[in-house]
Amino acid sequence: FLHKLVLGIETSCDDTAAAVVDETGNVLGEAIHSQTEVHLKTGGIIPPVAQQLHREHIQRIVQEALSVSRISPSELSAIATTIKPGLALSLGVGLSFSLELINQLKKPFIPIHHMEAHALTIRLTNKVEFPFLVLLISGGHCLLALVRGVSDFLLLGKSLDIAPGDMLDKVARRLSLIRHPECSTMSGGKAIEHLAKQGNRFHFDLKPPMQRAKNCDFSFSGLQHVIDKTIMQKEKEEGIEKGQILSSAADIAAAVQHTTACHLAKRTHRAILFCKQRNLLSQSNAVLVVSGGVASNLHIRKALEIVTNATQCTLLCPPPRLCTDNGIMIA
Ligand code: KG4
Ligand code: ZN
Repeated sequence: FLHKLVLGIETSCDDTAAAVVDETGNVLGEAIHSQTEVHLKTGGIIPPVAQQLHREHIQRIVQEALSVSRISPSELSAIATTIKPGLALSLGVGLSFSLELINQLKKPFIPIHHMEAHALTIRLTNKVEFPFLVLLISGGHCLLALVRGVSDFLLLGKSLDIAPGDMLDKVARRLSLIRHPECSTMSGGKAIEHLAKQGNRFHFDLKPPMQRAKNCDFSFSGLQHVIDKTIMQKEKEEGIEKGQILSSAADIAAAVQHTTACHLAKRTHRAILFCKQRNLLSQSNAVLVVSGGVASNLHIRKALEIVTNATQCTLLCPPPRLCTDNGIMIA
């Protein structure tokens, strides 16, 4: 081989993933095992369960990534593994597996920060120069950062409580969308997006959070609380039991999705203006990268596009398979 090869291993949350990437960014192969279905049934991630599933699958997933890449472990130049942030029990599985492997193969170890990997992934598919802005929105992440270099980040804002995907998942659960014939196999966020298309968001008047806060932070638990109360009230009005699906579920989904989109767009707008005023970003061709599971929501993307169009920025999203947790971004 002419190029150095890196094996990337990711186990920070509920995906066991591995990939081999060469130093030019060429992906030789990858494998992934998702635990989503198990966690959907229990209504959320139970860390010891996630740990057990990582243990059961990591050997096979790493093996698969190597064999798809048609390389033997001895040909690797280094092993890169997520060390933080994430669920301690989940991270531990990837870490101990990697440590065993580097001892056995006598290869260098590259510790990886999960969020930095998410932020830099766009550079695998697009020519993006530093600095650029990144908005990471998923079930576990919510942050805005200025990426100044491979390991030079300026955190501009983060969620003060829960992440938007977590909030959407909780609302979907509260609406019992898992029992909805059209959404039973979808993640909470995807179910909300699907149902929102059939709803009218103007039937509920939800306010975007933190309208007066002069910073780029986010908050979603207040919104979740308001929606919970709204759902409870509707359940009373419609005279239905907990667990049944409200006739107004689609309207609620549309309102929640829209309010989430507004909040994300407004905070991002502030971040762009802040960076431009201080010449931290290019005035004429700044880039906003949006990534994470929630970034696949088309309504949210449209809201962000309005902001980037109004501020002469370019909006870039990695392809969906690189937006969610994967081994490629770690490698
Ligand atoms: O990045 P990801 O796969 O995993 C992490 O959380 O790290 O993101 C999953 C999250 C879940 O909360 C899910 O409900 C949300 O992304 N999500 C969506 C959509 N698809 C997935 N949220 C809104 N709209 C979607 N289409
Ligand atoms: Zn992630």
